[in-house]
Formats: sequence, C-alpha cells, structure tokens
Amino acid sequence: MNFLDLAESRYTTKKYDANKKIADETINQLKEILRLSPSSIDSQPWRFFFVSEEQMKQKLAAVSYFNEKKINEASHLVAFTAIDDIQNFEEQIHLHLPEGSIDYYNNFLKPLPEAEIKSWFQHQVYLSLGFFLSACASLGIDSTPMEGIKGEEYDKILNIKGYKTLFAVAMGYRSADDHNQPAIKPKLRLPLEQVIVSV
Ligand SMILES: Cc1cc2nc3c(=O)[nH]c(=O)nc-3n(C[C@H](O)[C@H](O)[C@H](O)COP(=O)(O)O)c2cc1C
Repeated sequence: MNFLDLAESRYTTKKYDANKKIADETINQLKEILRLSPSSIDSQPWRFFFVSEEQMKQKLAAVSYFNEKKINEASHLVAFTAIDDIQNFEEQIHLHLPEGSIDYYNNFLKPLPEAEIKSWFQHQVYLSLGFFLSACASLGIDSTPMEGIKGEEYDKILNIKGYKTLFAVAMGYRSADDHNQPAIKPKLRLPLEQVIVSV
C-alpha cells in the first residue's frame, strides 16, 4: 500500500478484538521505529513505555477516562513521555550530540524560560506520535492515540522518574463492528483548498 492509501485507510480505532494479540516480532519493529523517530537537532527528549502485561494495562486503563474499554481490549499500550529534567537532558546531549547541535541548543533554547524548554521537548514527542501512527498503519496494526488519560497517574503506576507522560497509544486489531472505520464513517477532513496553500 502506498502512503496515500495508508493515510486514507488508517483511523482511530474505538473498538478492538480482545482475542487478537500483536506478535512480539511486530512489537520489536515498532520499538525500533520509535527509536528512529526524528526530532529537532536529534534531541530525542523521550522515553516510550510499552505495556503488554494485562494487569498493568488494566491499571492504566482505569485512569484513562472514556478510553478505558479500548485499552482493556487492545493488545498493547504505549505511554509516550517527555524528559522533565533539563539538567538530565543537557547531560544526555553532551554525551550523544555533535558540537553543532549542542551550540544550537545553548544559543536558541537554553536561554528560554523553563516552561518553554519543556514545551520544546514535548513538541518532539508529539512528532514521534505521527511517525508511530503511520508505522502502525504500514504494519497492518490498528491504533488509538489518546490524550484522554491521567498522565500523572501513569507516571505513578509505571514508576516513571524524570520524565512525564503526555499521551498514550493503544494498539491491536479492530473489532469487525468498530463504528469508526472509514468504510462505515468517512473521515471529516477540511477541504484541500482550505488547508493547503500553493504559492
Ligand atoms: C494527540 C491526539 C489525542 C487524541 N486523543 C484521543 C482520545 O483520548 N481518545 C480517542 O478516542 N481519540 C483520540 N484522538 C483521536 C482523534 O479524535 C482522531 O485522530 C481525529 O478525530 C481524526 O480521526 P482519525 O484518526 O480516525 O483519522 C486523539 C488524536 C490525537 C492526534
């Protein structure tokens, strides 16, 4: 399938087939794809928590508002977190990034207020979400991006330190009667002329 076909056919899954699990080999590919996700200056201010164990998944589902049932029925859940400790981030880039990238950070980001630096970290994590949703579609995996979760509760349950959960993605295989599939419910996108400007 080419990318346009994937963009038309992927969708936010609202109901999973609880009997179908994603193979470990596919999960390993998705982990590697996330590791390869691009970020500004290759900053990689993130950590991704893959949850397959049922009890842990249920605990997280219980703090995910209206998303609870989807998570319980999905095969896997991934919590996307952004680094929340600027000093740790700076140590990480000094170990892993070339001088030019560190200079960019020092000149353009470090002087900003703490909240803006952290917001920049979080933008990078959102970018990895787009990459990940496309990757899932390319592997025939259905997915649900979810901001409707209690991030602070995720941090406690997963014992996350120095990072902060921003959102999560449930993954698995759709239930045949999921009402949100494009074949049943066409996508509601704005017209091309409104969102694309050719100059
Ligand atoms: C960052 C983000 C957060 C979202 N949070 C939720 C959520 O908590 N629960 C849910 O069912 N859908 C959630 N969605 C799905 C969007 O509503 C959906 O992507 C949008 O309506 C477009 O539909 P499509 O993904 O089926 O093409 C989220 C999507 C994004 C990108």
